[in-house]
Amino acid sequence: MKALILAGGAGTRLRPITHTRAKQLVPVANKPILFYGVEAMVAAGITEIGVIVGDTRDEVMAALGDGSRFGAEITYIAQDAPLGLAHCVLIAQDFLGDDDFVMYLGDNLMEQDLAAFVAAFGSARVGAAPPTAQILLKQVPDPHRFGIASLDADGHVVHLVEKPDDPPSDLALVGVYLFTSRVHDAVAAIEPSARGELEITDAIQWLIDEGERVRCELLTGWWIDTGKLTPLLEANRLLLEQIETRIDGSVDAASSIEGRVVVAEGAEIVNSTVRGPVAIGRGARIVDSFIGPFSAVGANCVVERSEVEHSVLMDDSSVSDIARLADSLIGSDATVRRSTQKPRSLRLMVGDHCQIDVE
Ligand code: G1P
Repeated sequence: MKALILAGGAGTRLRPITHTRAKQLVPVANKPILFYGVEAMVAAGITEIGVIVGDTRDEVMAALGDGSRFGAEITYIAQDAPLGLAHCVLIAQDFLGDDDFVMYLGDNLMEQDLAAFVAAFGSARVGAAPPTAQILLKQVPDPHRFGIASLDADGHVVHLVEKPDDPPSDLALVGVYLFTSRVHDAVAAIEPSARGELEITDAIQWLIDEGERVRCELLTGWWIDTGKLTPLLEANRLLLEQIETRIDGSVDAASSIEGRVVVAEGAEIVNSTVRGPVAIGRGARIVDSFIGPFSAVGANCVVERSEVEHSVLMDDSSVSDIARLADSLIGSDATVRRSTQKPRSLRLMVGDHCQIDVE
């Protein structure tokens, strides 16, 4: 079993952050989104991983390296233009060979035991009527935004359609798929959709039309397609919910730590209150401040005389003299500061290297 992780795409809905960084490398709970996917593959025993990269290839390659830090072996496959998920399979054919594989969308995060999902496919493959593909479905309130599956009375997948105007069900395809090598016939046979992409949804429909069996499972936990600010902050919240307290940095006597908080090595908490769940990255300095629930403060950030809540501060950014900064995403090496004494409450999305001076 191999894995194919998709880490191309432009990330237009997370600008300005994605002007300077791959959307899959935005951190949630102080770890790049993409790392969760790679770690989930390794935890499921899959170490041969192909990563599809696009315009942001240099950055993705620098972050993942050869995969050895994850216990994996990573092969990079360049996609010159975002021509669709099935196109990714097409260009990965040499890497995938005849192996079964998991395809995983690098900007998706989900609460799912991937090992169990993979094992279930293995078990079904040795049974009667072995499936050639397996999909994960989740009920959604806005089915026109996703690939949608229709099931028959026995729970078998009978029809799939990409982003329908008139959705036949509310069961969306979640960004993880399992395939045998039969999918290579499918991706070679389909035509581009109206949006000009080779859709994986159409490839799976092709398999069904050819009489192949497609197994499905319903996802019970959460699933977030992180491409926009609100879901990204939601993912940050859900992942911070899972952290356990660990104080490797320093906390002075005038400070208090409440609830589950990670203070990484070299971080300093001075005359401040940190109310978890919160993650404070390596070398960060929190001085005369309040860091409220669901905040992730990146490595080497500085927060002074400010309140921060439900926000992601990327590495090397600083926030000074802001009465309240909430629901915000602050790019790396960005500065948000106030020069007058008037209290301010802010909600911001700030790109990397920016400086915001509040009067
Ligand atoms: C893609 C797939 C869609 C799936 C979704 C999951 O959509 O085409 O079928 O439901 O991922 O995130 P896209 O992100 O390309 O709009």
